[in-house]
Amino acid sequence: MRKKIVAGNWKMNKTLQEGIDLAIEINKLAVEKADNDVDIIIAPPFIHLTEVGKVIDREHVSLSSQNCASEQQGAFTGEVSAEMLWSAGVDYVIIGHSERRAYYQEDNDILNKKIKLALDNNLKIIFCCGENLEQREANKHFEVIKKQLTETVFTLIKEDFDSIILAYEPIWAIGTGKTATPEQAQEIHKFIRSLISEKFGNDIAQETTILYGGSCKPANAKQLFVNPDVDGGLIGGAALKAEDFIDIVNSFK
Ligand code: 13P
Repeated sequence: MRKKIVAGNWKMNKTLQEGIDLAIEINKLAVEKADNDVDIIIAPPFIHLTEVGKVIDREHVSLSSQNCASEQQGAFTGEVSAEMLWSAGVDYVIIGHSERRAYYQEDNDILNKKIKLALDNNLKIIFCCGENLEQREANKHFEVIKKQLTETVFTLIKEDFDSIILAYEPIWAIGTGKTATPEQAQEIHKFIRSLISEKFGNDIAQETTILYGGSCKPANAKQLFVNPDVDGGLIGGAALKAEDFIDIVNSFK
């Protein structure tokens, strides 16, 4: 059985103290009332990771970064390496988020370097894909997603694909309040699973967790998560409130 996961991407929000307080609150609710069948991951900003790591119980909450450097080490001012993240106790890294692709010009070459370094340093990866509005309206979304995956995570060997969680995040749904309909999400998740099956076989396809991201909140999480190929969510805005985030975690039942 593949894992159900709800991950919170805090993006560039919260001061250090606010971040610690949020993590404490999420951890408390996770221990007290979260569905034990769901893995919870939080992805605070880099500078919060060490302190947040100290206040969460790893039996209940795992730690992710939102990015890592595309180089191993050295003269790369301002960057944070995969090895540093591992040494700080980080479990996961988000790679390929559309905001990184769009605002920081991260192309597939850069993403592939990051993927390799993350795996070399024992980090699991939440890898994002998704089309923009223009591509969806031109009915190119299947093609776009296939290309995004084929040129990145599908270049891995089967054994390494074990460390990959995929997240389908339609760009038109991120931060817009416009969620994909449950039918749209299921359609793409099923398509992604069929691509994994073609590439790595049905066993791996059935084991791979595929998250939905884009204006997912307590009010719509249930309708999304009830779909057979939607294994959880990658949550932005609603992950910044502990109650909302844990309500989303509890939306499988
Ligand atoms: P929102 O939930 O704020 O739309 O963000 C989704 C997202 O980008 C998560 O990575």
